[in-house]
Amino acid sequence: MTILAPNYIYLDGTFKENIAVAFNDKIEAIDSLENLIKLYPSANVVQAQKNAVLYPGFINTHVHLEFSANKTTLKYGEFMPWLDSVIAKREELINKCNNEVMIKACEEMMASGITTFGAISSFGTELEVCMKTPQKVLFFNELIGSSAATADMLYGDFLERLDASKKCGDGVIPAIAIHSPYSVHPIVLKRAVLVAKNENLPLSAHFLESQAEREWLEHESGDFLDFFQKFFSTSKAVSNINEFMENFDDIPTHFTHAVQATQKELSYLAQKGHSIAHCPRSNRLLGCGRLAIEELLKLKIPFSLATDGLSSNNSLNIFDELRAALMLHHLGPLEELASLLIKGITSTPAEIFSLNSGSIEVGKDADFALVSLPDAPSSLESIALQSILHVTRVDALYIDGKKV
Ligand code: BEZ
Ligand code: FE2
Repeated sequence: MTILAPNYIYLDGTFKENIAVAFNDKIEAIDSLENLIKLYPSANVVQAQKNAVLYPGFINTHVHLEFSANKTTLKYGEFMPWLDSVIAKREELINKCNNEVMIKACEEMMASGITTFGAISSFGTELEVCMKTPQKVLFFNELIGSSAATADMLYGDFLERLDASKKCGDGVIPAIAIHSPYSVHPIVLKRAVLVAKNENLPLSAHFLESQAEREWLEHESGDFLDFFQKFFSTSKAVSNINEFMENFDDIPTHFTHAVQATQKELSYLAQKGHSIAHCPRSNRLLGCGRLAIEELLKLKIPFSLATDGLSSNNSLNIFDELRAALMLHHLGPLEELASLLIKGITSTPAEIFSLNSGSIEVGKDADFALVSLPDAPSSLESIALQSILHVTRVDALYIDGKKV
């Protein structure tokens, strides 16, 4: 048994002072340090440094580890030139992305407090790393392929990857990702969604990321017309926006980006119990715009905050993402936004994916991110904001009660 005593602890969305937590692999008790020592006299007591704040381990719902070799290779600023650069440099980036590069990416996430992440996997090449990292991984096997001629073959490959991810043991949770409305043939899309439904697997999909995607799905015009004519000899989209959304009616899905979704489409997502992964730096770097999180709040659509991969970001540090989000969403009360963003990497994604983590509660997994502020906060209400402004690395990280 370990007893960890920070100055401040994040409990039920607020901060409390002079409370400690006792844990083995699960959280056993939350009380004053004095009471916990009485309860567990032989426990190992860890007194955290001054102005330490204990958070549940953070959850990064959306990352592409397979593209971790990108630093300066891809073209940022607009979606289509970025996608063109991904296609041109794909082989080079994938070949450079060995296990060492991906382990480093996991370590960067851990240094910022991420104990669980959602790996969007195109090829399955990061599976070994996901088994090795002490972090918990929602392993989203991605289905891609709009062309009817290759859809069956790609679906077979997807099923094989899904099977492999089911054999990894506890640290890897098998899951399914649909690449996007424009890139997956509806017949195989429906099959994959049915697998997710029947096997109760987490489900995710990129959705309405760019203006170009919207224009293609609505009018079969714009930048994607040239793209599909060039690479797929077609001028027809495989789905429109409504048809795509209707595929997910029976299974709550985590839609990534949704920056270009209209009020009506967001209302539909809300009505069907879906949620959104918000990747602010990725959206900015690919010229996709700002997700109107204030509309999500009105509609009560839960959203997570995620880094996306290094193919559309300059770091996987979740505090960098929090800072970017804090600056991007410049309207509305600052401390409330900070608190909402912390929820987006803790309790909200845990609820979306039914994880036994994301909050400090008796019976939850003992996953913690221990950070410290440079000085005493002016109020308990300001701690989320001050953490976002001042923290870059954690002082300690615990996963299932073990310090990593
Ligand atoms: C497709 O298979 O249709 C596709 C693949 C990658 C990007 C865009 C489309
Ligand atoms: Fe993505």
